[in-house]
Amino acid sequence: MQDIQTILDKETLEFNDIVILLKTEGEEQKMLFKKAQDIQLNYVGKKVFYRGLVEFSNVCSKNCLYCGIRKDNKDVERYNLEDEHVIEAAKFAHENNYASMVLQAGERSDEHFIERVDLLLKRIKKETNGELGITISLGEQSEETYKKWFESGAHRYLLRIESSNKVLYNQIHPNNDEHDFESRLSCLKNLKKVGYQTGTGVMVGLPWQTFEDLARDILFMKDFDIDMCGMGPYIEHQDTPLYEHRNVLWPIKTRFSVTLNMIAILRIVMKDINIAAATALQAIDPMGREKALRIGANVIMPNITPTLHRKDYQLYENKPCTDEGAEDCGNCLSMRIELADREVGLGEWGDSKHFANRNK
Ligand code: 5AD
Ligand code: SF4
Ligand code: FES
Repeated sequence: MQDIQTILDKETLEFNDIVILLKTEGEEQKMLFKKAQDIQLNYVGKKVFYRGLVEFSNVCSKNCLYCGIRKDNKDVERYNLEDEHVIEAAKFAHENNYASMVLQAGERSDEHFIERVDLLLKRIKKETNGELGITISLGEQSEETYKKWFESGAHRYLLRIESSNKVLYNQIHPNNDEHDFESRLSCLKNLKKVGYQTGTGVMVGLPWQTFEDLARDILFMKDFDIDMCGMGPYIEHQDTPLYEHRNVLWPIKTRFSVTLNMIAILRIVMKDINIAAATALQAIDPMGREKALRIGANVIMPNITPTLHRKDYQLYENKPCTDEGAEDCGNCLSMRIELADREVGLGEWGDSKHFANRNK
């Protein structure tokens, strides 16, 4: 096996290098983390940017086999926040200098929903004097809808590819037109074309996923030239079809550790993008997000969803912060960021430097 340091000293990491790095543990993993940390400090610095997260509805028209709020899960209490509550959350983010928010919900593409989001975007912009940056994460939509929302004020979009391996993608989604790998890809292309800072990501430790799949995911992100990434460990949910295959999963600690390796490698491969410290990391390790911030992640999403509905947005089990309010999470995170020897970039949009660089 090649010496890890020799690999880390290379100008460009090839597929085989990435596979080896993904498998590192112990001392070798520390070397990987050190390299990622150096690159982070050099290219994006110590700053960590907040994106206040509002999960405004758990109504979803899709049936992803891994997700707790999939349409066919009848045990979920469905909710839809009132517009006023979404606006209040946006104001909270603005007043507390978060500078940006994320609007997330289950996927819907009916006319009513599209219009509602459009109006929300316009209102948020208006009520925050255009100062609050808005990221949206509302799944697959037509190019026209993406354009409409962009023109109404959203400027970043997150759409995870979940896995860049089409075979695995089909194993974790129902096989029908609504869950088509090619459609997901064409949505990602459209997002870039419309002008969004475009983010994607994958779940790490899915059933049947291999280190080679994950290495290809990293190269997919590089080839696609993404601006942002959010990736987290797969965490099984007992009310989903994929739960049946939990016997083939890596142990939860491995999924956690390999997610950190993914973040560190991605930081080395794509030096100036924004990488989020996913909340799912904290479902496994109480210090999960801090660990990610130290080794490459530079974005964090404090939950600002009104507490009443948080417990109903359980994509996976053990989701943290379901009893806390927006203030609690804000205070808790600023402390955590300090513990990770990072600084909160309050009052700054913290846009992807990569996006600025690729548009020069
Ligand atoms: N474990 C981890 N992440 C999940 N997601 C959905 N279900 C799970 C799960 N069981 C992630 C998907 C989706 C994002 C909104 O949440 O990657 O894109
Ligand atoms: Fe719906 Fe998203 Fe869950 Fe899929 S992952 S079922 S689209 S909320
Ligand atoms: Fe929500 Fe710590 S981030 S309570």
